[in-house]
Amino acid sequence: MRAVVYKGPFTVAVEDVEKPGIQHPNDVIVRVTSTAICGSDLHMYEGRTAAEPGIVFGHENMGIVDQVGPGVTGLKEGDRVVMPFNVACGFCTNCAEGYTGYCTTVNPGFAGGAYGYVSMGPWQGGQAEYLRVPYADFNCLKLPAGDAHETDFILLADIFPTGYHGCELAGVRPGESVAVYGAGPVGLMAAYSALLRGARKVFVVDRVPERLRKAEEIGAVPVDFSAGDPVEQIKEQTDGAGTDKGVDAVGYQATAGGTGEEEPATVLNSLVNTVRPTGALGVPGLYVPADPGGPDEQAKQGMLLVAIGKLFEKGLRVGTGQCNVKRYNRSLRDMIIEGRAQPSFVVSHELPLDQAPSGYDKFDKRIEGYTKVILHP
Ligand SMILES: NC(=O)c1ccc[n+]([C@@H]2O[C@H](COP(=O)([O-])OP(=O)(O)OC[C@H]3O[C@@H](n4cnc5c(N)ncnc54)[C@H](O)[C@@H]3O)[C@@H](O)[C@H]2O)c1
Ligand SMILES: [Zn+2]
Ligand SMILES: [Zn+2]
Repeated sequence: MRAVVYKGPFTVAVEDVEKPGIQHPNDVIVRVTSTAICGSDLHMYEGRTAAEPGIVFGHENMGIVDQVGPGVTGLKEGDRVVMPFNVACGFCTNCAEGYTGYCTTVNPGFAGGAYGYVSMGPWQGGQAEYLRVPYADFNCLKLPAGDAHETDFILLADIFPTGYHGCELAGVRPGESVAVYGAGPVGLMAAYSALLRGARKVFVVDRVPERLRKAEEIGAVPVDFSAGDPVEQIKEQTDGAGTDKGVDAVGYQATAGGTGEEEPATVLNSLVNTVRPTGALGVPGLYVPADPGGPDEQAKQGMLLVAIGKLFEKGLRVGTGQCNVKRYNRSLRDMIIEGRAQPSFVVSHELPLDQAPSGYDKFDKRIEGYTKVILHP
C-alpha cells in the first residue's frame, strides 16, 4: 500500500510499504479516507526529534473498518470511524481515570502512545491507505454512515479536542475573556472552543495574516505580534486588566515578535503577563524534555527561563500536557452532528496522498494559506 514515509529532515516520500494486518484479536484494520498533517508532525519533519528515516507519519486518522479481529465486539466491516491520536488500552490506571493520553500499556517506559510518532510506541501512522488500530473497541469512535461532515469529523482525531482541552485546562467559563497565543490549527480550535463555551471576548495572537483572518472570521479579535508587544495590545483592549484565562497553542518553537528568532519561553512569559491575577493558563502547545535544535544550552535540555516569580505572585494556575482525546471526542462529534459546531473552517487544503511532499513543504513554510491539510489516500 502507499504511505507517507519520513526520509530525513525536510523530506517525505510516498512509497509502497507492507499493508498492515490483524495481529491481535482486538485489532481492526481501517481503510483510511482522511488523514491530516499536524503541527506536531513538523517537529519530526524538521529533524528536531529522534525520528528515524522510515517511520510512516500520521496520527490524525479516520476511515472505514475493513477487517475486524475476532475479539472485537462493537464494530463491524463498513463502520465509519475516527480514532483519537492517542493509542490507549482502556484498562490501565490512567486510562481508567480518563487520562488516555497517558496510557501505560501501549508504550512501555513512557506514558502515552500515538500512531506514527517518535517515542510514542510502535504504532504505524495512518498517512497511508490502511491503518491497524489496536484495542479497537476502545479506540474507534463511530460516525454516521455516508460521507457527510468528513472534514469536520477528521478534526476529532486531534486538533478540535486539543483546542478544547486548552480551554478545559484553563477552566474557561461563560462570560470570560481569553487570550489564545498561536493561530495555527490548535490555536484556532482553542479560540473556537472558548467561544463555544461562552467566552465573551477571545483574543488570538499570531503573525500570519491568513491565520489571523480565520480568527477574525469566527468572531475572535486578531492580535499581530509582529506589530508590537501582544501583552500591551491586549491590555489596551481590556482597560489594562488583561484576560481571565490564557491558552498557549504555540509550544517550544515560539518566535520573538521583533527578530523572528526562536525564543522558546516567550509565549509562556507573555501569558504570565497577559492573564489577570488568579487566572489560569492552559498549555496544549508542546514542550519537550530535550530539544537538540534548541537555541541555547538550557533549551537543548528542555529547560526554559520562565517568570515563575511573577506566576506565583499572580496566583496563576497552569495545566499542561497531551490531550486525552477520548474525554471530548464523543460530545464534540455530537455537536457537529447537531450543527452546533463546524470546525472545518480551519481546513485550507485537501490533497491526494501523492501530494503529501508538497503539502508538508508548504505547511511547514506557512505559505499560500496552508493552515490545515487533509490527505485523502
Ligand atoms: N497537547 C496536545 O495534545 C497537542 C496536540 C496537537 C498539537 N499540539 C501542539 O500544539 C502546538 C500548535 O500546533 P499547530 O498544529 O497549531 O502548530 P502550528 O505550528 O501550525 O501553529 C503555531 C502557530 O504559532 C505561531 N507563533 C509562533 N510564535 C508565536 C508567538 N510568540 N506568539 C503567538 N503566536 C506564535 C506561528 O506563527 C503558528 O501560526 C504545537 O506545539 C503542537 O505540537 C499539542
Ligand atoms: Zn496532531
Ligand atoms: Zn491504558
